[in-house]
Amino acid sequence: MTIATHIATFLEKSSWIRKMFEEGARLKAIHGAENVFDFSLGNPYMQPPETFKEKLKAIADSEQIGAHAYMPNPGYPFVRQSVAQYLKKEHNADITENEVLMTCGAAGGLNVILKTILDPGDEVITPAPYFVEYGFYADNHGGTLKTVQTHPDFTLDLDAIEKAITNKTKAVLINSPNNPTGQVYSKESIDRLGEILSRKSRELDRTIYLLSDEPYRKIVFDGTRVPSIFAAYPNSLVVTSYSKDLSIPGERIGFIAINPEAQYKTDLVSGMALANRILGFVNAPALMQRLVAELQSESVDISHYARKRELLCNGLRDCGYDFVKPPGTFYLFPRSPIADDVKFVQALQDELILAVPGSGFGGPGHIRLAFCVDDQTIADAMPGFEKAIRKFK
Ligand SMILES: Cc1ncc(COP(=O)(O)O)c(C=O)c1O
Repeated sequence: MTIATHIATFLEKSSWIRKMFEEGARLKAIHGAENVFDFSLGNPYMQPPETFKEKLKAIADSEQIGAHAYMPNPGYPFVRQSVAQYLKKEHNADITENEVLMTCGAAGGLNVILKTILDPGDEVITPAPYFVEYGFYADNHGGTLKTVQTHPDFTLDLDAIEKAITNKTKAVLINSPNNPTGQVYSKESIDRLGEILSRKSRELDRTIYLLSDEPYRKIVFDGTRVPSIFAAYPNSLVVTSYSKDLSIPGERIGFIAINPEAQYKTDLVSGMALANRILGFVNAPALMQRLVAELQSESVDISHYARKRELLCNGLRDCGYDFVKPPGTFYLFPRSPIADDVKFVQALQDELILAVPGSGFGGPGHIRLAFCVDDQTIADAMPGFEKAIRKFK
């Protein structure tokens, strides 16, 4: 064995993603990329906003001494100040730069948090369907991911979460707007979750953190608001990135914000600064930090995603697909017409449509479609979507 058994097992576990990737490449080579309808990846197709490019050029041209040097591990103080200023309004909380730590994307941020809070054997509870990397991240730091099903419309099943909490639970990790379902959890459910965590922490005499992974916070439709977790529960942290809303996932920039009311705030801040360093990130990319400091309220034009959502939902509804219309993100999670979602994904592939089986997200019997594609792809794929469902309905 050339690599660790553990990683070899993980490779095997995630092999369906690899297979789909390979299958997509094979189909594109045979039929031409323009004839394959690829809904498989959450890779934003839109260009970043114009202001991103303008400011990037200006920052690249500046002659500031030390602009490329090491910095404090949590990031430049002026950048964290700018983020805090924005968060103050967005979360209606008294956040300062001391509660903000710049990270290498949301993925980097999640690993920093989990490295800081998990002891071996600790459990992290997450509602399913969920972003599949969470299991790997928990494992990276000696923890285990425990999933709890949501209701059929993908809203939180709070009773199930409460039942899942034990004296091993260290955190509950939510993701709203959610990948893969697009669901946004209501303020009422977040408040109730906060009450449950307060009660359980007291009962078990144990700090249980509420973690909210929010890279899609700005990608919401029809006036949807994503409630803040900070008012609901003190021992809480938000982790996010600019990957999706600025269309820059390759630039690896995001941040963690700690609830100013968190009980062990000083320890968390020190622990996370150290974790950022010793995980090998050291600090978030310097150039991107400078840039996002000036782009706090910016995003790509969300109306494009709103339009794509309408195109896809209307088209699929007419073909007979069943789904919850997503209030946020650029994902749709329709029910597969047959229980075997992998088989249905294969039927879609026969029509040159690439989707991901819901099983891979802890949501069997569904498929995930990422609609961060151009309008034409959605329109051109419709006859194939119809043909595929007709085989089973
Ligand atoms: C729910 C969720 N969390 C975290 C990430 C990772 O984001 P980033 O690329 O900013 O690290 C993604 C990326 O798709 C995601 O969907």
